[in-house]
Amino acid sequence: MSLHQHSSKPAGATNGGAVPAVIEQLDALAARYGNRFLLGAAPDDRLPEHGMPGVDAMRLIDEELVLDGIPMRNLATFVTTWMEPEAQRLIAENLHRNFIDHAEYPQTAEIEQRCIRMLADLFHAPGETTGARTQGSSEAIMLGALSLKWRWRGRREAAGKDTARPNLIFGGDVHVVWEKFCRYFDVEPRIIPLQPDKYTIGPEDVEPHVDENTIGVAAVLGTTFTGHADDIRGINDLLVSLKHDRGLDVPLHVDAASGGFVWPFLYPDSEWDFRLEQVRSINVSGHKFGLVYPGIGWLVFRSREDLPEDLVFYENYLGKRDATFTLNFSTGSAMVLAQYYNFVRFGREGYRYIMETMQANARTLAERIEGIGRFRLIGSGEEQLPLVAFQLAEAQDYDEFDVASQLAASRGWMVPAYTLPPDAEHVTIMRALVKLTLGHALAGTLADDLEHACATLDQKGGLHEIDRKRVKTGTGY
Ligand SMILES: Cc1ncc(COP(=O)(O)O)c(C=O)c1O
Repeated sequence: MSLHQHSSKPAGATNGGAVPAVIEQLDALAARYGNRFLLGAAPDDRLPEHGMPGVDAMRLIDEELVLDGIPMRNLATFVTTWMEPEAQRLIAENLHRNFIDHAEYPQTAEIEQRCIRMLADLFHAPGETTGARTQGSSEAIMLGALSLKWRWRGRREAAGKDTARPNLIFGGDVHVVWEKFCRYFDVEPRIIPLQPDKYTIGPEDVEPHVDENTIGVAAVLGTTFTGHADDIRGINDLLVSLKHDRGLDVPLHVDAASGGFVWPFLYPDSEWDFRLEQVRSINVSGHKFGLVYPGIGWLVFRSREDLPEDLVFYENYLGKRDATFTLNFSTGSAMVLAQYYNFVRFGREGYRYIMETMQANARTLAERIEGIGRFRLIGSGEEQLPLVAFQLAEAQDYDEFDVASQLAASRGWMVPAYTLPPDAEHVTIMRALVKLTLGHALAGTLADDLEHACATLDQKGGLHEIDRKRVKTGTGY
């Protein structure tokens, strides 16, 4: 079999008659030594007629992946990039288990419920509650916001009132999923703009937007942009007083995608969860500071009544009555098991140790960055995720995008530069997540590299316009 028959594209140059003969010879030998893809293009448009040995397929993919960034140098992402070998083994050994098959895998389903109970307890749920395992915070938010809409509609119908124009209030500091929810599920988004020097929201921002059609308010614990929290306590107090004064019972959902595993350990006395009366539901990403690989998220309700019964689907599945509350159906169970592994492996003490370690290294990095003398830190000293958000203190011949680009070019660090949402769109920020894989020594190296990047840019100036078009401007997630 010749290489050309089973490659979707012809191999590179075939110079005169000699080269095809050589290729054919190599092709024949490839059957013995493996690796025939080295002489051909990767199949990329139609299913190849013939397959290849497993080891060849593996190497083909492995070789392409070296072009991707190295996850441990990705300081843009909140998502876990390293787990312990024991957890990796557990994951590898359980990839074949479909999570949704509760009847076949009842113990996996029980482990999911244990995780939900532990999270409800961590978030101070007052009594028996319920929740769901999701693919990430986005699915959890969609389901949580649907519950807000359903409950609002139920209340309005019971009172014989109009249900045509639901609205949801949140700040410009939220993740895009909140706008996505509004568009997909026909809810008016009431977005509170950020201010030039205020990147979170509080009760004074929320109050003018609340009315009888408000299905809920969403507040963020640990924003994607700067890692700070909205004034959740203040917003709760506002909603409590609206309930008493105007009879408007507006629920609060906390988007704790990143903060849900940070605040309980770094700021245990800070009240943002079910200790607050109007907080009815919380989402958290297991794959962020829950320290599990992607995709696992959680939705936890304050009480069973907060999940409307008609959002739960009961069906007879493979002979057993089963209840589901999800947007998708089949999915892996490995990450649920990995989450439970972390819970039992670390316990509260272990999570606290890890969060405090990351925070200590974030502080070291922040001090070193400040010491360079060119950058201003954003909101350090406030309650914040373990990260450093910073910007150039004074105008230079280059900007934050140039610095990010130089840093990537010189050492492969992925430190994003991005502008904030309206009305703070003129503010540019750089942000480095400090996770377990950025220890004290590496944090110091990063600060040194940042200093060198500035020194290089002093000499060569900012990026050429052509290169500037290639600069990434997203926050990373
Ligand atoms: C505050 C916030 N909410 C929601 C999300 C979406 O989470 P996921 O990626 O787990 O779907 C993110 C992701 O970065 C986030 O930072």
